[in-house]
Amino acid sequence: MPSLFGGLMPKVVASAPGKVTLFGEHAIVYGYPAIVTSIDRRVYVTSEPRNDNTVKIMALDLRVPGIIVTYKDNEVVVGTDYGQSLSAVAYLNKAVEIVSEYLNVRKGVNLIVRSEMPVGAGLGTSASVSVATIVAYAKSMGYDLSPDEVASLGWRVEKEVQGIASPMDTSIATYGGILKIQATSTGKYVREKLNTETELPIVIGYVERTATTKEMVKMVKKLKERYPDLVDGIMKEIGTVTLEAEKALLKRDLEKVGELMNINHGLLDSLGVSNYRLNEIVYVARAAGALGSKLTGAGGGGAVIALAPNTQERVEVAMKLHSTMTLKTRVGVGGVAVKELEKAP
Ligand code: PMV
Repeated sequence: MPSLFGGLMPKVVASAPGKVTLFGEHAIVYGYPAIVTSIDRRVYVTSEPRNDNTVKIMALDLRVPGIIVTYKDNEVVVGTDYGQSLSAVAYLNKAVEIVSEYLNVRKGVNLIVRSEMPVGAGLGTSASVSVATIVAYAKSMGYDLSPDEVASLGWRVEKEVQGIASPMDTSIATYGGILKIQATSTGKYVREKLNTETELPIVIGYVERTATTKEMVKMVKKLKERYPDLVDGIMKEIGTVTLEAEKALLKRDLEKVGELMNINHGLLDSLGVSNYRLNEIVYVARAAGALGSKLTGAGGGGAVIALAPNTQERVEVAMKLHSTMTLKTRVGVGGVAVKELEKAP
């Protein structure tokens, strides 16, 4: 692929959206489909060419959800999730390394990263950071990568940083919209864009996590080993809910989508991945008028989504009382995008 700019390297900014899983988390690990959507909060990565070979990273605004105050043995312990923002930097570094190797070029750049959503809140920020960095860095080297190249390099970044990752987050950060994703028997993933053209006004509530995604997936695996038939049945039901939800989304039947979110949450709760705080947010959202609500992502704390057309304000106020932070969002927005800011001399 020839460099488009010869000697001139442009300063560019790439942005990629965050995501929420609408249906099917955990069951996707066992081969069932999941439906995931982009949200209208983005990560921006600016790439500015330098005259040397140094890659300098500046994280301007990588907010973390909150400060955790614990009162224990007559002592107030204040902690933060700030380690999460440090880990975001690992994705930037790895993305640069992988793109340099893929394109066989390495030139110095300043990378400036800014996020409209808190990192480490289960909104897929590590994938957004990875995908936006890949596109920004490649573009300022003079290369336009295809979406498939970006998605596949992004998945590699996540796998190398985390050890294990599904392509769900990097796919949605790349392509945007609403995607149905399913693993095939050969371990490959197939992806299908759902053309719903539906406005889905969602409120997201977040509470601190007490376990990582890896730990939650392992916990479910152990439960499955103890109750194979039971847990198989639950996974299968989640698969059925997801397929019903796909139909409801395509028909724009939001009442039904909400109802199916409630069923999905009940099934996730039966797997033991919800907790008291998540359930509290799920139920106050419904009481305040949400059509449906469920935990999203791996659980063990983290995020809850509530579908709230016409009641977004009221539902957010109710959820805020029980959450560390809340966000009102629109879903199904565009994937990664890049813009040239100026040509470097
Ligand atoms: O917590 P998140 O947003 O990383 O979502 C995890 C989703 C799982 O289905 C539990 C795991 C996976 O890799 O798909």
